[in-house]
Amino acid sequence: MTVYLNGDYLPLEEARISPMDRGFLFGDGVYEVIPVYSRRPFRQAEHLARMGRSLAAIQLANPLDEAAWGQVAQRLIGEEAAEDQAVYLQVTRGAAPIRDQAFPQPPVPPTVFAFAAPLVTSSPAVLARGVSAITTPDYRWQRCDLKVLSLVANVLLRQQSVDAGCAETIMLRDGFLSEGSSSNIMVVRNGTLVAPPKSHLILPGVTYDVVLELAAAHGLPHDIRPVSEAELRSADEVWITSSTKEVLPVTRLDDQPVGAGVPGPVGQQMIAWYQDFKRQIMRHADR
Ligand code: PDD
Repeated sequence: MTVYLNGDYLPLEEARISPMDRGFLFGDGVYEVIPVYSRRPFRQAEHLARMGRSLAAIQLANPLDEAAWGQVAQRLIGEEAAEDQAVYLQVTRGAAPIRDQAFPQPPVPPTVFAFAAPLVTSSPAVLARGVSAITTPDYRWQRCDLKVLSLVANVLLRQQSVDAGCAETIMLRDGFLSEGSSSNIMVVRNGTLVAPPKSHLILPGVTYDVVLELAAAHGLPHDIRPVSEAELRSADEVWITSSTKEVLPVTRLDDQPVGAGVPGPVGQQMIAWYQDFKRQIMRHADR
């Protein structure tokens, strides 16, 4: 695999960073994951804008402009064999000579790392039966709107669902749905799609936006408002949304069936709209 590291393209085996890198020591950095369909990045501008916001929030200058990020992505996509991919971008506050939580003074160059890997989305069999999830209290920090590298809470939360044989951990904070360990969560109640509002408590998902745009475009009733734990548990449908999972129905929550225990009709419809939209945007030149 070819990776990008600080301006160079090189085989992964040859990529070297300092163990003093603040990404390694503190998780002091940000990242993005951009899905690529038929070798074309999907919603790249939105992902890069979110990375710009994450960088600004941690007071780290964006090392590349949008065009330069786009060139890095395009080069990595060209090096990878798969048609559908996920491009990973990461920036850390660099490697300082001494370990100190405070920003390095004088500043050191950031570490910029990127790679592309095959995108593995849910199989038709998984989409047909849906997945199981568990719920846990959301004990993360108050800036879940930032896509930062400090992910140990998400790692532990995700592992809880792995240990329970489930696909995702859905978090509740103060009695309300927040999001999944690496996804946003939406519910359907009485034919209306309900999504928790964007706030400091959830990542503003690019897929979340696409799904709500599709709902609006197709006249599906939708509401953006807090979802209580009781509403989550009695929802007709629960969906996971993310760049790598797209739209994935949850059919069991904490060992109880969601709705009828099978993927619901609104979710099936949204998955079809999502796939159509992808084809329209990404595969237009092929037709
Ligand atoms: N995760 N919430 C969290 C905590 C996430 O980590 C993600 C994405 C999302 C969905 O965002 P988007 O629709 O923009 O992908 C929500 C990525 C895929 C990851 O960490 O690998």
